[in-house]
Amino acid sequence: MEGKVIEVQTAWREGAHVDDAKYRQMYEASVTDPDAFWGEHGRRIDWMTPFSKVKNTSFEPGKVSIKWFEDGTTNVAYNCIDRHLKTRGDQTAIIWEGDNPDESKHITYRELHAQVCRMANVLRNRGVGKGDRVTLYMPMIPEAAYAMLACARLGAIHAIVFGGFSPDSLASRIQGCTSKVVITADEGLRGGRRVPLKANVDEAIKRLGSDLVEHVIVVRRTGGSVAMEAGRDVYYDEAAAQVTDECPAEAVEAEHPLFILYTSGSTGQPKGVVHTTGGYLVYASMTHQYVFDYREGDVYWCTADVGWVTGHSYIVYGPLANGATTLMFEGIPTYPSTSRFWEVVDKHKVNIFYTAPTAIRSLMGGGEGPVKKTSRQSLRVLGSVGEPINPEAWEWYYNVVGDRRCSIVDTWWQTETGGILITPLPGATALKPGSATRPFFGVSPEMVDAEGKVLQGACEGNLCIADSWPGQMRTVYGDHERFEQTYFSTYPGKYFTGDGARRDADGYYWITGRVDDVINVSGHRMGTAEVESSLVAHPKVAEAAVVGYPHNVKGQGIYAYVTLNDGEEGDDALRKELVTWVRKDIGPIASPDLIQFAPGLPKTRSGKIMRRILRKIAEDDFGSLGDTSTLAEPAVVEDLIENRQNRA
Ligand code: PRX
Repeated sequence: MEGKVIEVQTAWREGAHVDDAKYRQMYEASVTDPDAFWGEHGRRIDWMTPFSKVKNTSFEPGKVSIKWFEDGTTNVAYNCIDRHLKTRGDQTAIIWEGDNPDESKHITYRELHAQVCRMANVLRNRGVGKGDRVTLYMPMIPEAAYAMLACARLGAIHAIVFGGFSPDSLASRIQGCTSKVVITADEGLRGGRRVPLKANVDEAIKRLGSDLVEHVIVVRRTGGSVAMEAGRDVYYDEAAAQVTDECPAEAVEAEHPLFILYTSGSTGQPKGVVHTTGGYLVYASMTHQYVFDYREGDVYWCTADVGWVTGHSYIVYGPLANGATTLMFEGIPTYPSTSRFWEVVDKHKVNIFYTAPTAIRSLMGGGEGPVKKTSRQSLRVLGSVGEPINPEAWEWYYNVVGDRRCSIVDTWWQTETGGILITPLPGATALKPGSATRPFFGVSPEMVDAEGKVLQGACEGNLCIADSWPGQMRTVYGDHERFEQTYFSTYPGKYFTGDGARRDADGYYWITGRVDDVINVSGHRMGTAEVESSLVAHPKVAEAAVVGYPHNVKGQGIYAYVTLNDGEEGDDALRKELVTWVRKDIGPIASPDLIQFAPGLPKTRSGKIMRRILRKIAEDDFGSLGDTSTLAEPAVVEDLIENRQNRA
């Protein structure tokens, strides 16, 4: 094999679900006869009405339609809870580890059942039923999982908004899916600091300026005092005391929506990605089992937030469908100290740990000491997700965190894909640091050049997926045309991921990052257009162009070129003001890292901003700007280089 290879260790293969030969055989079967393959694996979940049809999908322009198991009915909450009660009612379903290391609790499957039924009854009493949207704006507490599962139980559709988003962002997402009910907490707690969730909800509802939101359900987390509007707001514990802990799970069609999750694209406002019931759950549970080589009795921990897709598929739905013990962590990697992750691993004897490269890189900065003082003996599999993991971070994860004993799974996927698409399998795949390696069952990656020509063998190009898999998103909420346009029009007949990749001679994929105007900051996806429109809304700003640039810890940082209105002075005070502006407008994850005041931006004669040049300058790599002769005003480039903010 080509390049640095870490062979599958004998210990990883022992007792693993698949070895290399089995992977190849199953993969082959999955792509040659998807109906037979998924017909068999579709039965890994329980169906109320068994399906007779398996795959009915088309990527054809104008006719994009994705249906899996369409004549079956089931319920996600039933699969994640009820079906386990007979065999594992007393087993821990969720281990909750609080922000404060002295706070943790275990919730058994039986307790989970009671809690979810209660929450479902509270919702039902407020008129929530099948197909209704419910917005969740929650901290990482068990009630977030209860709320998700309670919606699923009723056939309602949850739309989670990450707790770090601003009231404005929350408002547009509530509006986008017209939720009449919002579930939140008084305050969140992260790294010892309080996050004013309920106050943000109040602010968001005020901005909506309508009576769309009829009910706000407030879980008491910190007990901090918050405003409660009579008739609209209710404390969850008070409402829960009025209802029973029994609530039937509603049988819904396989294609009934399970959730909407807003995600950034290269243009316009975030899109409401729609995932449905049957195919999603089959895919989330199957990938959870095989990718992490999940085994009965394992303690599994994914450090994501439920506000992102990783939290949906790999904290809640995949693990619980498999009857696993899943750990939910309220805090951050550096509180109270940079040993926290590893202390939690030891405290709860975690076997499988799944985190993001940005967390690994930030902990790397503190050296080996904080890791080595913990045991970590329970660990077996280490996962990575959210952005490309650079080989140095990979090696550190492998050598220092995993003591060269644990396998690493670098999992590539997207909000849109519902589950992991390209990844090693611990017992099967020889590893290469920095490569997401090979496709999961049923996934047909295709590399194309800029013209859409399919490339063969070792190559570099744009990553497409040639055919559907059960976890794929089905539509953009309320805008199927945008769905087709965004994902299926660039290379007709294929799903275009927006990522660039390299495929090596061994058929391994190396994801190089987004090729569109989406940037990935600490694993959080951000459309440059969103940051730009926030900046130009500031009264002193005339024009703005935002690009990503390489950042040691965050992967990519946000670099903003800002042209001010005539007469305005660009200084550090204004830089601070603009950063605060964007934080308030979108949320902290969108804060620009560097702002360059630019008297002019490089534009073509037709007025199009040449982002290629802006990216190069932001990367501090202006030796090869390419042809600038087509610019309307070539001189602006010199000024931009002269005043660049990112200098080695
Ligand atoms: O660019 C890829 C990057 O994250 C994007 C998807 O972001 P999001 O929808 O927020 O989902 C993140 C969690 C699934 C992708 O288009 N990405 C995600 N995982 C990897 C990755 N890039 C390289 N390697 C990965 N393992």
